[in-house]
Amino acid sequence: MGPIRSPIPLEEMEPAARPVSEAVGLPPACYTDAGFYAFEKAAVFDTEWLCVGRSSQVPEPGDYFTATLLGTEPVIVVRNRDGRINVMSSICQHRAMCITAPAERPKDEWFDPPPECSGSTRNFRCPYHWWTYDLDGRLIGAPEMHQRPGFVRSEISLPQLATEEWQGFVFCSFATDPLPLGPRLGAFDEMLANYCIDEMVTTEPEMLPMPFNWKVFAENFMDAYHSLRLHASLYDFTEADTSNETLLAGTFPPLEPGSIGIGGRGRTGFKDRGMNPTQATLFPPIPTLDEDDRWNVVYLYVAPSLLIGAYSDSVKWLAVQPVSAGESLGRLGYLFPEPTTKLKLFDQLLEQHKRGVELFYDQDMPVAVASQRGMGSRFAPQGPLSGQDFFRSQLAEWLLERYRAADAAGA
Ligand SMILES: [Fe+2]
Repeated sequence: MGPIRSPIPLEEMEPAARPVSEAVGLPPACYTDAGFYAFEKAAVFDTEWLCVGRSSQVPEPGDYFTATLLGTEPVIVVRNRDGRINVMSSICQHRAMCITAPAERPKDEWFDPPPECSGSTRNFRCPYHWWTYDLDGRLIGAPEMHQRPGFVRSEISLPQLATEEWQGFVFCSFATDPLPLGPRLGAFDEMLANYCIDEMVTTEPEMLPMPFNWKVFAENFMDAYHSLRLHASLYDFTEADTSNETLLAGTFPPLEPGSIGIGGRGRTGFKDRGMNPTQATLFPPIPTLDEDDRWNVVYLYVAPSLLIGAYSDSVKWLAVQPVSAGESLGRLGYLFPEPTTKLKLFDQLLEQHKRGVELFYDQDMPVAVASQRGMGSRFAPQGPLSGQDFFRSQLAEWLLERYRAADAAGA
């Protein structure tokens, strides 16, 4: 699709990007309108980096997993013979078949989208006509095609996406020449240095289909305002609130020009705070953290698709992507230092750790569904922000910069 203009006037969004004390919400249609979603996808998700997972999910050459980006683009994430990670389209260049789709499926699944899969392989063979591609996407086999005049096998390959790794996360981009990601997160590398995130191992990511706009979820993840209220029955934030100057009651550092990181580090009010109703972490502290780190948490949004919460025993990560205006898909995983995963009680503690986080989501998800529905009401406001809503004004500021650029290109 070529450049398009925003169907919602940019002037209506500008009040959302003001300093938090003056800001209001984005226009409700930014959360519900299909035309605006098409514009936003082009302005933000087709130009920036999308997180697909962790490099530790593909440790050896030939290891791969699949993912569907933006609801429509199936890709393969694979480590090649040289040890580099490729992200490439899994659309066969013969008949547009998804080459990782199963050749046979139970009858009750015939009409479902191809399932995601993972494994280890020497090459990828399309189940339809057996066109075969190597780990770099080069076509290495195409039955009968040598008989076609002018057919040059070496001219055909699976489309490759730009890729970059940051802190062990794998990102890809549909842009042909995207601005490198790492240099735009420098301030956060410093903030996260003691966690040694690049050396951590991830749990198998869980798929979280979410029936609401991707911004609803990102805003909820980073929202300090609701934690003390919606989650009051789970968790006593009183301590944190009174002693906290930065994360819960304050603001994140101002958005640097060109940065793709929004977030900050803040004191929790007590040491080794865990995200479960005991309020204490369940695993041993990350050995590289210093005393001060253990009194803090770091929340970071790597715009537009990765959310991170770093605690003193582990790191929670959630890669989020839109599927349509009113739907998104999350991939949720937890990172631990490798020695932690070797503890005898690791599996049992992990169960409890996940359940602790789920108790929060049991409250967040119904609220997200209800506010997504509310955004479709004729009475939906561009409501005023609280001082603790600082993430939303920074997100709007970040988005508006992209919306402006795309809208100008479409003019
Ligand atoms: Fe929440």
